[in-house]
Amino acid sequence: MNALSSQSQQSLKNKRVLVGITGGIAAYKSAELVRLFSKAGAEVRVVMTPAATEFITPLTLQALSGNPVSQSLLDENAEMGMGHIELARWADLLIVAPATADFIARMNAGMANDLLTTLCLATTANIVLAPAMNEKMWLNPVTQKNLASLQEALPELQVFGPASGEQACGDVGFGRMLEPNQLFEMSLSLMQPSQSLLNQNIVITAGPTREAIDPVRYLSNHSSGKMGFALAEAAAQSGASVTLIAGPVNLPTPAGVQRINVTSADDMLREALAQLDSCDVFIGTAAVADYRPAQAANQKLKKDGQGTDLNLTLQENPDIIATVAQHPQRPERVIAFAAETQNVADYAHKKLTKKNVDAVVANDVSRQDIGFGADQNEILWVTASQTVTFGPASKLDVARFILNQLTTMDTTNDA
Ligand code: C5P
Repeated sequence: MNALSSQSQQSLKNKRVLVGITGGIAAYKSAELVRLFSKAGAEVRVVMTPAATEFITPLTLQALSGNPVSQSLLDENAEMGMGHIELARWADLLIVAPATADFIARMNAGMANDLLTTLCLATTANIVLAPAMNEKMWLNPVTQKNLASLQEALPELQVFGPASGEQACGDVGFGRMLEPNQLFEMSLSLMQPSQSLLNQNIVITAGPTREAIDPVRYLSNHSSGKMGFALAEAAAQSGASVTLIAGPVNLPTPAGVQRINVTSADDMLREALAQLDSCDVFIGTAAVADYRPAQAANQKLKKDGQGTDLNLTLQENPDIIATVAQHPQRPERVIAFAAETQNVADYAHKKLTKKNVDAVVANDVSRQDIGFGADQNEILWVTASQTVTFGPASKLDVARFILNQLTTMDTTNDA
């Protein structure tokens, strides 16, 4: 466990967590999730669908949570104890793990034909879904449509995972439920404004760079800077001391963040290196221009009116993040972003090694709904040992997810 992760182990005393378990093989992992919440001091109650009881016994979960397990909407005894509406009100967090394709479909349809779907409709608590299913089921457009429509209807809903890896059915791909410790750590940030990054110095680059052609013209790109600014905001809220090195963007500086405005890749590199004395985490969200004009003209270039071509010689810019990651004062963590239009996971893995970074946050910028300029993002978090998807979600939620991943990264697994 690294210095960052030990700071995220906080007490959940006085917090009430309702764990919903549906009928998938990953249900056996929920026992560990319940144990983690209980151990952290939370009061835990478990609700199981009938199918879930085929995979793991209510007795196990009763023993681990220290509370009777609720299973039926129509159980008189249970209703006399803590009725379904009371249970819905009681929870600070409702986490459904695993959430099967069937459960997601029923929830999306607004069904209330069992206790767990009823609770999801009735609660005002944060709801988290941890999907787990066969890859084909996960990738099926019907499942994706159900999830997208659920997220549109419930913007506060969080979807954690699934991860990619070996599945119970023998397939390999997306659909594995996240590990209980990941679900636990990610849930922490929802229940308390965590100070998990207290005393951490985080440097974030954001936005595009502008490479001068002459005093009035430049080369640049469409980066809005929103993802980097969201990260700066979330990191500051988590107690970090944040320096945001921003290219030319039209965004307000998040509260508590120190902002350094830059124009070109060279400026950005200089400011980044100047921070390395006291930088624990470096996150490069900036869309740094790969090339700059080899020679910026001192005076405005004039056309000759004869239709003569103007040739610009471009020179490669320094790779800021690779320079930081190879620097003798390398921060403990260096995280790169990768905007791709195809083979996202593949390119992200290659970038991990090529740039010598600890994680790559990759997204598909060929999609209109996410990425450049959009308010939503869907990302792949790729480390040497892990590939996890998150979203679509607001860039602030994506930022919180990334910071949580960061605090739970284990140096022994991910170095
Ligand atoms: O190589 P590519 O541009 O795809 O890599 C993207 C990642 O590298 C981002 O984290 C970006 O901020 C960083 N980068 C950089 N300097 C460059 C180019 C990219 O820091 N010149």
